[in-house]
Amino acid sequence: MLTNKTVVLGITGSIAAYKAADIASKLTQAGAKVEVIMTEAATKFIAPLTFRNITGRSVVTDMFELASEYDIEHVALAETADVVIIAPATASLIAKAAAGISDDILTCVVLATKAPIILAPAMNVNMFENPITQDNLAKLIARGFIIVDPDYGRLASGKIGLGRLADVNKIMGTIKQVLGTRGDLAGKRLVVTAGGTQESIDPVRHIGNRSSGKMGYAMAEAARDRGAEVKLITAPTFLPEPVGIEVTYIETSAQMKKAVTKAVAQADALIMAAAIADYRSKEIAKAKIKKETPNLTLKLVRTPDILVGVKGDFLKVGFAAESEDIVANAKQKLQKKQLDLIVANDITDKESGFGTDTNKVTLIDRDGKIDSLPLLTKREVADRILDKVVELFS
Ligand code: CTP
Repeated sequence: MLTNKTVVLGITGSIAAYKAADIASKLTQAGAKVEVIMTEAATKFIAPLTFRNITGRSVVTDMFELASEYDIEHVALAETADVVIIAPATASLIAKAAAGISDDILTCVVLATKAPIILAPAMNVNMFENPITQDNLAKLIARGFIIVDPDYGRLASGKIGLGRLADVNKIMGTIKQVLGTRGDLAGKRLVVTAGGTQESIDPVRHIGNRSSGKMGYAMAEAARDRGAEVKLITAPTFLPEPVGIEVTYIETSAQMKKAVTKAVAQADALIMAAAIADYRSKEIAKAKIKKETPNLTLKLVRTPDILVGVKGDFLKVGFAAESEDIVANAKQKLQKKQLDLIVANDITDKESGFGTDTNKVTLIDRDGKIDSLPLLTKREVADRILDKVVELFS
């Protein structure tokens, strides 16, 4: 995913420095070349050896050592970076960056690089809220730095407040988004739906389905990482909110319809990965239905088909959850719903059914071209679907 990308990971002297090991690991696993630079203070919190083992590369801790041992100028690192991420970034690093001070290898790189710079601050709440730090951050934002705001919670001092290093997934999401800005979906606006809708029966119960939302979230994140502006409309899931994506939370198919209709007004493509209830309860009981009768009959009414109903000048991608005659049924849906592309999956397949991290799908486009993909992770499937979307755009 991040293959051929060079990420310079700067680590400064904060108790949160150990969390940078997780970032280095996730970046390396995603295929990035990770160049770690540690300030002297950072090395007091966590050993450079940890990062050398995680990244498989030398860790830079000293400007002069770098010049002699690796025979490159310190600016070389700045020039090879596709992105510079400093996590954790202390108040002192932020102050130096805002003032243009370069007195060690990390601050030299900050000043010398033309790559985007992301800062993830971590510090004591009073230091973070101090107007000096806030002014410095405002100055950096005005100069194009990207700040991943710290989280609220328990700090090393025992105090509760803003200042904890942002969640690693939030930092990773920001890095991927920044690296994807010039991707093949740059400038495109995508609406993605995810999850299974819930239709109320009474205040306690609903009719739902087994969709986990994983495929839709993977679609939204993959599109974001290729430069698209993404709106995600999601039914309830257990998944964390993705970074850099505008998320609308809905429950019922009627709310989904309203949200989709509004969002597609400015969209280049609609990707309908959500599992939408085809029926809802005709009546929603105001009070909890008590178990008084041996049998209970619910009257269900059809919900409108959202894909069929939304019209406009955008690409329409639908999914087809099938348990038999997969391709034939999917082809029918493609025609009936006037889609540009349909993604058919066999929901009886254990590895590609609901809730799994993998999926095995067949893509059928508006010209009838069929592409059967092997078993892949949902993220890989999402990228293959987007390859097709890019092709259909052109
Ligand atoms: N869909 C929709 N509105 C609905 C039902 C489905 O927009 N009320 C969309 C789904 O998001 C999906 C596609 O239509 O992209 C196909 O959904 P699927 O559940 O496979 O098929 P249905 O059209 O509901 O038909 P059936 O349940 O009879 O297979």
